[in-house]
Amino acid sequence: MRVEVLQTAGRAAASAARLVARALEREPSLVLGLPTGRTAIPFYEALVALYRRGVVDFRRATTFNLDELAGVKDDDPRSYHAYMRRHLFDHVNLNPRRTHLPDGAAGDWTREVARYERHLSEAGGLGLAVIGIGRNGHIGFNEPSARLEARTHYVKLQPASRRANAYLARGDWREVPTHAVSMGIGTILQARTVVLLATGASKASIVARALEGPITTRVPASLIQAHPAAIAILDREAAGRLSAARRRGAT
Ligand code: PGA
Repeated sequence: MRVEVLQTAGRAAASAARLVARALEREPSLVLGLPTGRTAIPFYEALVALYRRGVVDFRRATTFNLDELAGVKDDDPRSYHAYMRRHLFDHVNLNPRRTHLPDGAAGDWTREVARYERHLSEAGGLGLAVIGIGRNGHIGFNEPSARLEARTHYVKLQPASRRANAYLARGDWREVPTHAVSMGIGTILQARTVVLLATGASKASIVARALEGPITTRVPASLIQAHPAAIAILDREAAGRLSAARRRGAT
């Protein structure tokens, strides 16, 4: 796995945005897997800045978000639909017919997860997935567990994940839904390229476990060690507990 360590969170976000821009230049109809979360906000700011400078064109791209909270409508400010409009969709030339998120108000989850997985496979699967990592090691909402789901599924959130999303509900984690729809670990890892973006000291310990610890379903992000084309883009703080060679960006 390639590990890039940048001085600051802003530089890490900008590096991930440039990587996406280069991939879209090579392949304008790329299918992107996209994250939400606080880490991704500067990444989207950097992407929007590149778009405004004419460096990136989304016209032919397709996007699939990794997940959505369950029990919220698209226009609910807590929804990932709202997050994506706020941080990306309202600012770039993505075709709204080619931006996809699970429907958080679906109700019939069996049908919804099948629909999402079908749309993904009709689009040819993910070309490039940009993912974050939860402090509990989740990717998407594949929460630490004795077993993981391969495909898109309905999932109960761990308290840590609800707390991490409190920023969407004016700081009140009890207002964060208890369940979500998430791509499965297999769906994410089938992306041709996986880019993990992590910043800040609060991620240092889980980043070290994910990138250098044993591959285990208890740290779902550790499975990216087995991906043939995974890149981790970190700031110095998030890389703080990696082995010295990795911290220097030597691998
Ligand atoms: P965060 O979320 O950027 O808000 O920490 C990342 C994630 O849970 O994937």
